[in-house]
Amino acid sequence: MSEVVRVERDGGIATIRLDRPPMNALNAEVQGALAAACAEVGSDRDAAAVIVYGGEKVFAAGADIKEMATMSYAEMAEHSTLLQDFTRALARIPKPTVAAITGYALGGGCEVALACDFRVAARKARLGQPEILLGIIPGAGGTQRLARLVGPARAKELIFSGRFVSADEALAIGLVDEVVDSEEPDAVYAAARARLQPYVGGPALALRAAKEAVDRGLEVDLESGLEIERMLFAGLFATDDQKAGMQSFVENGPGKATFSGS
Ligand code: CAA
Repeated sequence: MSEVVRVERDGGIATIRLDRPPMNALNAEVQGALAAACAEVGSDRDAAAVIVYGGEKVFAAGADIKEMATMSYAEMAEHSTLLQDFTRALARIPKPTVAAITGYALGGGCEVALACDFRVAARKARLGQPEILLGIIPGAGGTQRLARLVGPARAKELIFSGRFVSADEALAIGLVDEVVDSEEPDAVYAAARARLQPYVGGPALALRAAKEAVDRGLEVDLESGLEIERMLFAGLFATDDQKAGMQSFVENGPGKATFSGS
């Protein structure tokens, strides 16, 4: 297991913990370890949902500028694939994911948060894509996922200016889903866990299909998206959870089914 990216498990929820003080700058080691951690939790049947957490002070202040500063075009042409791979690996985890953002989520750090399904932030958190101030643009999915989440005009304004967004503004524009007011150091992490708790013991294959239908559907035209939905929907009739869920409804009414995740 990597020292800079750890996987912790507790009560059906896995936590991917970024741990490279002081700012969790995402160097090549962190990027590779994060991709490996995503593969690990993605195939772990005991992990129903996943939190990405950078600790009590910071989420991540971006790709490691000191590592990138002297890279040539030829070097970055090769490395830029890995930059997108680790956020893609996160986005493709086939279970609910949430970023627990206690402080800065900037550049590649914001892009890690964007690759999660949900974002929970402390009141003092600051998010942004400040790459323009370095003479570059976001390279770990930010131009695409930010625009899809908050709309193209807002995304362009944030990327063109590089300015930091407060938690309140992030909530108002849909960049985060919840702002945690408590000053308790672990309050954001606790809120992230509470958000994922309902999925523990849930119908894992239906949750996986729901995530895939929404995410794949956003990449294609409506008719193709509807076809993706139709196939995934029909496929769920091969699962035990569909049988258990419907049988339970017929016998006991709504919301009482016990699911096995198979
Ligand atoms: N890469 C490398 N080192 C970083 C870093 C980064 N992204 N962010 C912070 N650090 C380092 C600082 O250089 C400093 O190191 P030293 O103690 O050795 O000097 C240490 O972390 C603490 O930082 P500050 O002294 O600057 O702390 P601060 O509280 O005054 O400011 C900050 C914090 C606002 C996060 C500021 O450090 C900052 O603006 N960081 C850069 C943010 C940024 O531009 N991110 C985008 C990176 S490019 C990218 O991510 C490309 C992509 O899309 C993949």
